[in-house]
Amino acid sequence: MPTTSADTLSIGEPPTPFAPRDRAEAIVSKLTRAEKFGLVTSYFPYLSPKRTEFDMILGSGYTPGVPRAAVQALRITDASMGVSNVLNMREGDTSTALPCALAMAASFDTVLVRRAGAMIGAEARAKTFNVMLAGGINLIRDPWAGRTFEYFSEDALLSGLLGAAAVAGVQSNHIASTLKHYVLNSQETGRMIADARIDMPALRESDLLAFEIAIEGGRPASIMTAYNKVNGTWAGEHGPLINDVLKGEWGFSGWVMSDWGAVHSTVDAALAGLDQESGVELDLRLNGAVFFTDALERAVLDGQVPESRVDDMATRVLTGMIACGAHDDPAPETELPVDAEAHALVAQAVAEAGIVLLRNESAVLPLARSIPTIAVIGGHADLGVPSGGGSSQVRSNGGAPIEKTLEEGDAAWFCRMTYHASSPLAAIRAAVPDAQVVYRSGDDVEEALAAARDADVVIVFAVQWRTEAMDLETLALPDGQDELITSLAGVNAKVVVVLETGGAVLMPWIGRVAAVLQAWYSGQRGGDAIARVLFGDVAPSGRLPITFPSADADMPRPVVPGRDQRLERDAAKAAGDGDARIQAFSIAYSEGANIGYRWHEVNGIAPLFPFGFGLSYTEFDYSELVVSAAEMPIVALTLRNVGSRAGVDVPQVYVRAKDAGGSKTWRLAGFARVELQPGEVRRIEIPLEPRAFSRWDEKLGGWRQDGELRLAIGRSATDLVLQSAVIDL
Ligand code: BGC
Repeated sequence: MPTTSADTLSIGEPPTPFAPRDRAEAIVSKLTRAEKFGLVTSYFPYLSPKRTEFDMILGSGYTPGVPRAAVQALRITDASMGVSNVLNMREGDTSTALPCALAMAASFDTVLVRRAGAMIGAEARAKTFNVMLAGGINLIRDPWAGRTFEYFSEDALLSGLLGAAAVAGVQSNHIASTLKHYVLNSQETGRMIADARIDMPALRESDLLAFEIAIEGGRPASIMTAYNKVNGTWAGEHGPLINDVLKGEWGFSGWVMSDWGAVHSTVDAALAGLDQESGVELDLRLNGAVFFTDALERAVLDGQVPESRVDDMATRVLTGMIACGAHDDPAPETELPVDAEAHALVAQAVAEAGIVLLRNESAVLPLARSIPTIAVIGGHADLGVPSGGGSSQVRSNGGAPIEKTLEEGDAAWFCRMTYHASSPLAAIRAAVPDAQVVYRSGDDVEEALAAARDADVVIVFAVQWRTEAMDLETLALPDGQDELITSLAGVNAKVVVVLETGGAVLMPWIGRVAAVLQAWYSGQRGGDAIARVLFGDVAPSGRLPITFPSADADMPRPVVPGRDQRLERDAAKAAGDGDARIQAFSIAYSEGANIGYRWHEVNGIAPLFPFGFGLSYTEFDYSELVVSAAEMPIVALTLRNVGSRAGVDVPQVYVRAKDAGGSKTWRLAGFARVELQPGEVRRIEIPLEPRAFSRWDEKLGGWRQDGELRLAIGRSATDLVLQSAVIDL
């Protein structure tokens, strides 16, 4: 008998005589034309005049159902870090906030990320949503990109595997998840007009590979297309990418939805494979029309779009809902309670696993509980931890101790600078109740220095805020925080910097401070997680899922493409031209698939901290490397905890072609996350992803494996400690 458990329905279910597509076709054959057209759009409830007509739940989207045919309404919410409540649409409604996606990725832990997805999916379902716009996996090409915190990594394999885990977790609740944004929405500036230009083989080996792996492993019900153009064609009307690659070659059977306000045509989009126009009110506002309702019907009547295509669109929506279990096990009609404490513990576990120890001179960390005095400085550590802004913003349980609106810019209407109410200061005080712990905001530098002089240890919190719809201009910490840290290091030898950033930052003070913890945006229980790592209740085990460059100039595009056009637009607006728009521009992704650590290697640039890097409170030793060739090759090695504390290691397998004809850089091909007690020795096996040592051959229309390979075990992308002989897999 086929199992119906939440854990197995969404992943790898073998085809049955009642395959989702067959069932969906049977339902669609009974729908009227109007009912079918109803399924291929969604409203944006916040702006929708039909909000009360359909009794919409306020979220990101809503598609009316067809009750007589047992077709449910789609009740759609963002996003990857929890059930968002942007603009406080559902007044006062809060949810559990996970740490940002980058923090999840730093765990290198697919099991944990799946658990995190299952937790947020359970909350979405309990709030009656049945579609979650989670699964953001765009590769982080530009370290200044605003949504870096919302994505997993610069590496296709890591992004793909974690994207699969997150989606499978969400969908284990029998609700749909997306994977997004297909493809190359790599920056925020001009995201709705930019033309991302790249060679096809390079795209295959990078962003498309991440989607390919995530779709195979996660089986998302839906894919969301990107705002931008790809090589001259809007992502949402890109036939080669949607019809040929996604639906044809990869056999994706669910539905392809647009991003909100991203549709530009009726016939082109429908024929290219777009199945659903999302948030039609935004298309009307931004692009001057709604494209998939009356206009699509006219196109069908005119014979420009075959009716069978509309049948296919509706069928795909239902196929996705059936395949993920949402159709047979509908979300409740009224809200159900959730176990908020259990969910907060999931968020905390993710935060703890994602914190990366970047520096630890003279083993200043973990801090002894006997320390008499501690000065905690900056970062609003007395109030909470920051979170990234935009559509993914969760209004978290416990409230927002800080919530600031932005004065101007593309992000201003829907993005808020928000903190979750998880105070690191309170958690530190709770950890050392007998110590004297003073807090200074850092606004008054002299006051902070005075506190630092008198303290045995200084813990300084440094914040860099990022949001959807806005890129950074520099990776430098803002608001004088570099100067503050440097000054603190001048008066106390034991300065521990806790970075609360949504991506890489520059660290001009790195050589002067004793320790650096990268805590990212750490979510609902971030304060507790940070304190537990500081005091050694938890071993730091995160590894960087992105490269930290040494300087802005080291990035492939040191200046944000489109920045000048944006500045011109802003100037024109300031001069009274309310209709001023950013002029179209293109972005040359000439680095191709050589992103992040591969960009640094190809160009011979040393990063500040490499991809994969992270220290521990113990040390690990690697030996006895054995590689077995097979369709899915396996690397075996012996791992030994040679220190005196328990710890978690993340050995990484990097592969490169022996000869110049193949891959010119080391590439991550597999990894493991292993917990070891002091002295413990374990033989581990790491399966390798063959596409990580293959090249996309455009003529062949397929993958061609690099010939002879070199393989190495690394502690990071630049610290390769054990190399195999040349092998042919
Ligand atoms: C974002 C998507 C999001 C959608 C709906 C867009 O602005 O790019 O990621 O899912 O809004 O809120």
